[in-house]
Amino acid sequence: MKENPKILIVDDQQQNIELLEAHLIPQGYKTITASNGEEALDKLVEHDIDIVLLDVMMPGLNGFEVTRLIRQDERFRRLPIILVTVLWETEDRVKGIEAGCDDFITKPFDKTELLARVRSLLKVKAFNDLSKNFTNQLESEVSIMTEDYKRSIKKIKSESLETIHRLSLVSDYKDKSERAHINRMSLYSAAIARQMGFKEDSVETLLYAACMHDLGKVAMPDSILQKPSKLDPDEWEIMKQHTIIGAKILKGSDSEYIKMGEVIALHHHEKWNGTGYPHGLKGIEIPAECRIAAIADVFDVLLSKRPYKEAYTLERAFSIIKEERGKHFDPEVVDSFFAIKDKILKIRKQYQSEKKPKFSISLSFFDEDD
Ligand SMILES: [Fe+2]
Repeated sequence: MKENPKILIVDDQQQNIELLEAHLIPQGYKTITASNGEEALDKLVEHDIDIVLLDVMMPGLNGFEVTRLIRQDERFRRLPIILVTVLWETEDRVKGIEAGCDDFITKPFDKTELLARVRSLLKVKAFNDLSKNFTNQLESEVSIMTEDYKRSIKKIKSESLETIHRLSLVSDYKDKSERAHINRMSLYSAAIARQMGFKEDSVETLLYAACMHDLGKVAMPDSILQKPSKLDPDEWEIMKQHTIIGAKILKGSDSEYIKMGEVIALHHHEKWNGTGYPHGLKGIEIPAECRIAAIADVFDVLLSKRPYKEAYTLERAFSIIKEERGKHFDPEVVDSFFAIKDKILKIRKQYQSEKKPKFSISLSFFDEDD
């Protein structure tokens, strides 16, 4: 309980106020006074009041009305109010309780009764304050812990994604492709998925999963990956294995990114007409993310210099993608690809000029467009 609790005395009769003060001040209470309801409401806001002694019969707002107005203010919902009047009919008491008062005192005051009631309500107030402070503190601590937890999760996620991305770069180095192939290919995939109406979290999963499409190339012999001419049938059979090996490396993970990465690694060379590998899946048998990754991968490879080929012009690459609509590629994915041609070119421009590959990519790349 506070050392010198503050009591607001509201009465239109100055002698009543003085009488109450004469009882209360010697007990160590501080008093604030008001001669009407409006003034009382102002004083409540100005001072940190602990209890209100409120006369019922006053000109202007009466005690019941003032009680009601105090209770309407969230800050004073639990502030102890004692109504003071000369006579109490049962009806008046009911009215007081309904208005929200906590106790009643009858004039003329009995000093002992007055002090006992004030003390008792101050104890209730002290308990309420303590409970309120505890709740506030608890809420604040929970909120801090929740923020810390969110920050930690975000950090772990970003570190995991960076690890996935860095490991995926192995395939770029391994087949000596133009640097940043996986960055461009992943961003193309995410852009197409977004255009096709994928949910934002699936777009993000695809962005990082697509990075892993050629992970299986780590197991491919350099003599095949870097062969400056067309592969013979035996070499081609070995090359096809990069899909199965990639999927094996990624198999059995609980991570959504790695699970999707496994599917993309396995099926990114399937073709819409069923002539792809490793399983010859056809049409919508091929998972949607793989149909998207296929076009993103091929488009970038067409534009890149590889040991076995020069880089094609943009015009030629676009025309091949168009020709392969309904053959190699899902027609809907091709249409979405061309619908965001400007965005595709923007990704290419930004990631083509990189001397060193970026070790992280994010959907924020698209933010300025949206
Ligand atoms: Fe591949």
